[in-house]
Amino acid sequence: MDMVCNVAEVRARVAAWRRAGKTVALVPTMGNLHAGHMSLVRAAQREADVTVVSIFVNPTQFAPSEDFDAYPRTLEADAALLRANAADLLFAPSVDEMYPLGPNTTWVEVEQLGRYLCGANRPTHFRGVTTVVSKLFLIVAPDVAVFGEKDFQQLTILRRMTAELRFPIRIVGVPTWREADGLAFSSRNGYLTEAERERAPLIQQQLQQLKRAIADGERDYRALEDVMSAALAAQGFKVDYVSVADAETLAPATSEDRKLVIAAAAYLGKPRLIDNVTLDLT
Ligand code: PAF
Repeated sequence: MDMVCNVAEVRARVAAWRRAGKTVALVPTMGNLHAGHMSLVRAAQREADVTVVSIFVNPTQFAPSEDFDAYPRTLEADAALLRANAADLLFAPSVDEMYPLGPNTTWVEVEQLGRYLCGANRPTHFRGVTTVVSKLFLIVAPDVAVFGEKDFQQLTILRRMTAELRFPIRIVGVPTWREADGLAFSSRNGYLTEAERERAPLIQQQLQQLKRAIADGERDYRALEDVMSAALAAQGFKVDYVSVADAETLAPATSEDRKLVIAAAAYLGKPRLIDNVTLDLT
């Protein structure tokens, strides 16, 4: 597996594959790769002939108060893991390569969907994600792009962006990869202390409990959200949100909605953990 750092070179590599009749999958990441990312790489390998993985810690999706500078950068270990998992090309551009004119002024923004869930307290986050993913789509021009379902809102927004901008790219969502105790893999799990790590699976347990209550007929979603928030707070989580939402609009669900996502975000010590489950009542 080769690593390239500039736009011209990744374009040349992909063009050569295209001339050879090969289809291309892209797995966009911010590095600090773990087993969850490798499940995305395996999905990409099933979907296309060659797999390009990008590693870019994207400054525009971090608010000034967030962990951009501290975000773990582990390029050598990431490259070794990708090599062991038979990825074909690693694209690891610098900030200057991706934002060549300095502070960015050209944005791709999906309205509405970005207002709910994580977007409520991170108002500029998804605009950074959609802008950088658009750039990656234009640079790599893949046939398929693969994203994790752990970031349900991100996946929903990127599907919408791809459809509205008519990118000729198929978006593939991959089920969340979990530890044996249910904790979703995340680069930020490394910030947890040992004691916090033991408590962290509570988010997934509570989401499952809430899902069972709805499957059993409970329809007072706001009350269920409050019960789960209180249960997390009692165990030392600082809850950002618990939301029973319509899986398509991401707005708070009403009893009329049939396809639901139950999503939560909470700080446990330093890291902010997110997770979700979906539920189809049709
Ligand atoms: O999910 C991520 O790691 C990032 O948000 C993404 C999609 C790579 C964009 O920077």
